[in-house]
Order: sequence, then structure tokens, then C-alpha cells
Amino acid sequence: MRIIRAKDYDDMSRKAANIISAQVIMKPDCVLGLATGGTPVGTYAQLVDWYNKGDIDFSQITSVNLDEYRGLKRDHEQSYWYFMHENLFNKVNVKPENIYVPNGSNMDADAACKEYDEIIEKVGGIDLQLLGIGEDGHIGFNEPADNFELGTHCVDLTESTIEANKRFFNSADEVPRQAYTMGIRTIMQARKVLMVANGKNKAQIIKDAFFGPVTPQVPASILQMHPDFILIGDEEALSLV
Ligand code: F6R
Repeated sequence: MRIIRAKDYDDMSRKAANIISAQVIMKPDCVLGLATGGTPVGTYAQLVDWYNKGDIDFSQITSVNLDEYRGLKRDHEQSYWYFMHENLFNKVNVKPENIYVPNGSNMDADAACKEYDEIIEKVGGIDLQLLGIGEDGHIGFNEPADNFELGTHCVDLTESTIEANKRFFNSADEVPRQAYTMGIRTIMQARKVLMVANGKNKAQIIKDAFFGPVTPQVPASILQMHPDFILIGDEEALSLV
């Protein structure tokens, strides 16, 4: 585990974008595992900026996103499909046929999850997985639980996650109660994992996840065992470690 201290959000975003950019330069046809949420927005903006300057080419990459709300169609403004297109895909030259997000509009959870695992296998696994972290230690939508779920699965979102995500909806009632998420095995099999974290509200969980015991009650803690895990945090997020 490597921890990189960034001065602030912009510095964290630039450092993360640098690592993603290096990955794409070293392996132009790499598979990027991508995340949504507030934290990586600046990272995507930086990548778009470098793309516009001609410094990075996404034409050969494949992307597989971590998760999607169950029951939201792709064109719903709060779907993760929509988020990724708004923040990155519509602004760079990634090929539409190389973009994968779990299919939230398929209400058959078993079929949707199986299909996603098959896609990840077919593309050859993930070269670099970008992650954020929830205040309860979730990664993707892998919430605190009694055991680590392995493959893509359907989860009931916890109250804490619904509360944290309601800022994107008109009210907490509108936040979907379930989501499809990549499992812990898939994330752990990524050849490189890059987590971004910023803000005071992440300080305690960063300490618990990476300086406490490895436990499914803190899903991100498993990353302590990943052979190539990099955490980039701003000063506030790293203030307790
Ligand atoms: C997003 C995801 C989530 C977020 C986490 C942190 O695809 O899977 O695990 O990374 O909820 O969200 P933010 O960045 O909004 O604090």
C-alpha cells in the first residue's frame, strides 16, 4: 500500500489523473475500472483537459464501471451511466462500444450481475481500478457486511449511503434502494487499484480502513492486502494517519 499526500482537492485530482494517464500511455488498450461520486469529478476534468491538449488518447481503452442503481434507466440524470457520460465519456474519444456499466434497467438481478461478470472476464480483467470510499468504508456499493461478496451482486443500500447520496436527488425518497455492484474479488483482481479521498469527513474511515483490522465490516480494509494499491488523499482526508 502506498499513500500519496496531496495538498488539496485539485492536487489530489491532478495526481490521480497523472497515474491514469500513465496507465493509458503505457498500455493504450488497457481496461480502466471507473467510479462515480463527487471525489473523482476533478480527476475526470483533468483527464478531459489533457485530452483536449492532445496529451492523452482514449480511442483504444475499455471502461468498466463499478456500479449502477438498480431500476434507473441509462438516460436518468442520476444514473451512473449518465454521470460517466457527462463527466468523461462524452468529452473524450472513448469508443461507445467499449463502455460498460452494470445494466440498471435490467430488473432481473441474477441475469444483470452474471452478464456483468462475463463482460469483465471477456475484456480480460481490469488494469487499473479507480475507487472512492464511503464514510462507512464501502467501495463500489460493497457495504459493511458479515462477509466479502465476491462477484457482481445486487445490494440493499444502507441508510448512511442513501443519506450521503440524497444530495444528488430531490429527496432521500427518490434515491433507489438497491444497486448492482462489482464484488470484492473483481476489485481485488484489478492489477492496480487507485483510491482518491478528500475532505474531513473521510479522515476517520481512512484511518479505520488502512490502519485497522481487515474486516468485511469495513469493506475497503481488504485493499491492505492488494499488491499494488495506491491511496491519494488530501490533507484533510489523511489528517488522522
Ligand atoms: C461510486 C462508488 C462509491 C463512491 C463512494 C464515495 O461509483 O462506487 O463507492 O466512490 O460512495 O463517494 P463520494 O466520492 O461522493 O464521496
